[in-house]
Amino acid sequence: MPFNDKISIVFVCLGNVCRSPLGEGVFRHLAAEKGLIDKFVKDSAGTGGYHIGEPPHPGSRSVAGKFGVSLDGQLARQFTKGDLPKWDYIIAMDSSNHRNIIKLGNPTGNVHLLREFDPKGCGDVPDPWGRGDDAFLETYTIIYRCCEKLLDHIVRVHHLM
Ligand code: 4NP
Repeated sequence: MPFNDKISIVFVCLGNVCRSPLGEGVFRHLAAEKGLIDKFVKDSAGTGGYHIGEPPHPGSRSVAGKFGVSLDGQLARQFTKGDLPKWDYIIAMDSSNHRNIIKLGNPTGNVHLLREFDPKGCGDVPDPWGRGDDAFLETYTIIYRCCEKLLDHIVRVHHLM
């Protein structure tokens, strides 16, 4: 893998301003809590290019901040074909993102839906774009519980602890 011995993971949504920055930030936070931050290379991206170069949405920054999760330093970028072989784990926020990733080329079984790891059942992570604070909180809550299980899964598969 291109990142030496690190496990690489990228979170993908449509705009890379609401959901996937939360995925990246929450996953980093949880990995740090377990003392595993150095084991990972993390990123996020959008299948669309509407917000390239922009920081995360204020709604995402606000809800993350309430729970002590930082989204500082993140800037939106577009997911490209070149990303497909680069990441051990490509984590799509919804089935439309998942389809758009698969359309780019030949993924090697490394593309997942985040909610495959949801203890409350599979589905899409709802898009809070254009909605209020409650929507951002709901999205954060789903992403947090999924990222906990995703990290547990990776720890088990890669014998990290
Ligand atoms: P995200 O939300 O995919 O979670 O970042 C969206 C952000 C922007 C747009 C749609 C969804 N947009 O249409 O600009």
